[in-house]
Amino acid sequence: MDHKALYRKFRPKVFEEVVGQEHLTNTLRNQMLTDNVAHAYLFSGIRGTGKTSTAKIFARALNCMEPVEGNPCNVCENCKQALSDNAIDIIEIDAASNNGVDDIRDLREKVKYPPSRMKYKIYIIDEVHMLSIGAFNALLKTLEEPPSYVIFIFATTELHKIPATIISRCQKFELKRIQHKDIENLMSRICDASGFTYDDVVLEQIARLADGAARDSLSILDQCFAANEDKHISLEILNNVLGLVTESVIFDLVEGLYESNGKKVLSLLNDVISSGKDIKRFTNQLIEFLRYLMLVKISKDLSALVNVSEETLDLIRQHGEKMSLNLLIRSINILTQVEVDSKWSSNSRVILEIGLIKILQPDLETSVESIMERLEKLEKRPVAVPQLSQQISKEVNVEKSIIEHSMSSVSQEEIIEEIVEEPIQYASSEELNLDEESLEDLWEEVLDLVKQTKISTHALLVDGHFEGIKEHHLCVSYKEGYGFHMIAIEKPENRVIVEQAIQQVYGKALRVQYITKNSDEDENEYSKPEDKLYDFLGSHKNKLEIEDK
Ligand SMILES: Nc1ncnc2c1ncn2[C@@H]1O[C@H](COP(=O)(O)OP(=O)(O)O)[C@@H](O)[C@H]1O
Ligand SMILES: [Mg+2]
Ligand SMILES: [Zn+2]
Repeated sequence: MDHKALYRKFRPKVFEEVVGQEHLTNTLRNQMLTDNVAHAYLFSGIRGTGKTSTAKIFARALNCMEPVEGNPCNVCENCKQALSDNAIDIIEIDAASNNGVDDIRDLREKVKYPPSRMKYKIYIIDEVHMLSIGAFNALLKTLEEPPSYVIFIFATTELHKIPATIISRCQKFELKRIQHKDIENLMSRICDASGFTYDDVVLEQIARLADGAARDSLSILDQCFAANEDKHISLEILNNVLGLVTESVIFDLVEGLYESNGKKVLSLLNDVISSGKDIKRFTNQLIEFLRYLMLVKISKDLSALVNVSEETLDLIRQHGEKMSLNLLIRSINILTQVEVDSKWSSNSRVILEIGLIKILQPDLETSVESIMERLEKLEKRPVAVPQLSQQISKEVNVEKSIIEHSMSSVSQEEIIEEIVEEPIQYASSEELNLDEESLEDLWEEVLDLVKQTKISTHALLVDGHFEGIKEHHLCVSYKEGYGFHMIAIEKPENRVIVEQAIQQVYGKALRVQYITKNSDEDENEYSKPEDKLYDFLGSHKNKLEIEDK
């Protein structure tokens, strides 16, 4: 048995079967019943909404020997011929391939002859916007004085390309995008008729992907039918058909991200790629899920915002609890950039890998979210230096207020000054007895030592510049825009590491002082993370493109 595409097999045969276009089908039926038909119709609307189907039904109804309440009977000789595309008086023309003046001249010649056996000679011209200007002009002549037995039905996806002179001579109907629920019902009927069972969420997802075009939904459903043996369509099958990764893989990868398990993340990515999945789609899917995790943190009732099963929603909630909002926003930002970057690159794998590594290594980054995240991590860590613990908790509070303030446009300069200095006996620069150059060389050694102690502290420190030693202070400067570096490096844990390294290398205790170069300017160029969040919510549209086949 050869395979007939679902969308052909289930082409609507009477007006009632055309879903969601009642404004059109009711009007046409009424015209049939009252014998009040026009000579030219123009159906416009996106592909797969029923233009051709309706035109065919209408053409049959007009020539049916025994129409039933405005519908074609579909059993008389005329209907049968039309249903098998053999009716010589119902002529279907694809304007995409017959768009020249000659084609329309030819049509004008033939229009002169009355129908050979049916009541009307009906021309269904699909994709009519493809006609050349000359062809439109030739057509216009026929439209101006159509023979009484001729009816034109034009269909187009691009109404704006049709000359106004043509439009004004037609009865115009716009076909609507079909509601998701209607498409789901349609698919559900087709599954029943074909002996397939399905998970509800599958039909929901297909309807969402098809976005109002019934034909697209049936094409996907067709592939699902073909892809399985036990006559049940699960989400797994749909994901396979769409080249999407199963949810469990996504959740594992997300887990790898918040557990900072680079090995797991990269090996999962490797599996995904070697199984032949499309990297760009996978990136998109990953963003989609991270978005769900983010939404779960903000809204209790997610069911209206996301399109997943109850079980998946539970998993989203569980993972959402474990991932901080900062990490989520940062991940989504990075992956959205990965999407943009890989659009122009042939090596999307490397771009995605770099993105994932950036997510795993906030130390590599200077975004607000990554620094907030580092601070969160530090706060949670048990304090290693007991005699400082009281002071540490005090400074943690100071830092919290710095972050709050920095969100509210107060300059960081002002606040950093408020940090309390504790009385510790530091050496003065004179005691060191070293020239400028050796001081600077030794600073390199300090950096090395810090690197060995804690890589993230080092990452913050290398971005600073050694300024020199004045009295009891070793001074390190940061450029404008490094305010959050300064906040993080000021953390007591980091200060201890840096000052211990200094003491070891220079042989004396020195207080390290961090300053901003260009401190006369207010530096508040950071956007709030919330802004980014709302930008993202507003602009990130989940959509997979379906090719029109
Ligand atoms: N409104 C609809 N109701 C039911 N099925 C539809 C509808 N629109 C499209 N379909 C399905 O998609 C197939 C193609 O529709 P078609 O009428 O050729 O769309 P168009 O001409 O608008 O691109 C149909 O055979 C049918 O299976
Ligand atoms: Mg069509
Ligand atoms: Zn009939």
